[in-house]
Amino acid sequence: MAVHHSANYPQGVGLLDGATILITGILTKRSIAFAAAERAIAEGATVIATSFGRAMEVTQRAVSSLDAPIQLVELDVTNDDHLASIPERLGVAHLDGVVHAIAGGSPSTLGDDLSIASVSEVLQTLQISATSLAALTFALKPLLAQAPGGASVVALSFAPDRVWPGYGWMGVAKGTLGSIVRSLAVQLGPENIRINVVDAGPLRTPAARAIPGAGAGVAQWSHHAPLGWDVDDRAPVAAAIIALLSDLFSATTGASIVVDGGLHAVGR
Ligand SMILES: NC(=O)c1ccc[n+]([C@@H]2O[C@H](COP(=O)([O-])OP(=O)(O)OC[C@H]3O[C@@H](n4cnc5c(N)ncnc54)[C@H](O)[C@@H]3O)[C@@H](O)[C@H]2O)c1
Repeated sequence: MAVHHSANYPQGVGLLDGATILITGILTKRSIAFAAAERAIAEGATVIATSFGRAMEVTQRAVSSLDAPIQLVELDVTNDDHLASIPERLGVAHLDGVVHAIAGGSPSTLGDDLSIASVSEVLQTLQISATSLAALTFALKPLLAQAPGGASVVALSFAPDRVWPGYGWMGVAKGTLGSIVRSLAVQLGPENIRINVVDAGPLRTPAARAIPGAGAGVAQWSHHAPLGWDVDDRAPVAAAIIALLSDLFSATTGASIVVDGGLHAVGR
């Protein structure tokens, strides 16, 4: 006879109870990072958000609607002074987790013709969307290394092993991001800092609007994904981010967790 073990989880305890999590990339309530912040707060975390420049006001409006008071700190990942001063400006003794939800660059680096963008534009897209993960992780390392139970950094990617229409150099940036995740995981594992990436299906967010011709591909996604796919439902991606931040994934680093309705498995 099969033995059924009933797990004895403590009642009313959140996955991130007592954790302090830094969440980048909240622009509006449609941002993936906003959904991650909502869920992190529901799971008991204290959330600190970042934004920069003129977007600060927009972000402030979004985070004001969350269920907890949120400290908002300025961080442009291309600004060395912002990166150098961030540990001090956060005013915390340690960080348990970081969500890197940042992508951007010149519009010339999007679209199917890779020849249009200049080298400096390409490098800027790679800096904002890929190498900033390393820059941010190293800037925050003094705080991450102090996390009592180890720390977790989670990045976001999109179909990094395929050439997706309209994605242009951003696809190259996402491929690079995956490689950076693995390299950071190897370097920082001994300090109990985990680095993973959620490879998410397409979602209707501010950044997604910049991808030329993405609409047709997205319709295909909803049609072909075995589980279906709702471009307005950010919750499954947020849940994966929270799981990776939590100690449910305490032995996982350098990994990509695919949350795409199963489309990656379909032969077409
Ligand atoms: N929307 C999708 O379909 C989708 C799918 C998979 C992965 N992703 C990834 O999810 C992440 C979040 O994007 P999103 O879709 O929620 O869009 P979003 O526009 O809400 O988020 C992108 C964020 O990047 C920030 N950013 C841009 N340049 C920056 C800089 N120099 N310094 C600091 N922040 C900067 C913006 O302020 C914005 O908050 C990105 O990495 C994106 O590539 C998006």
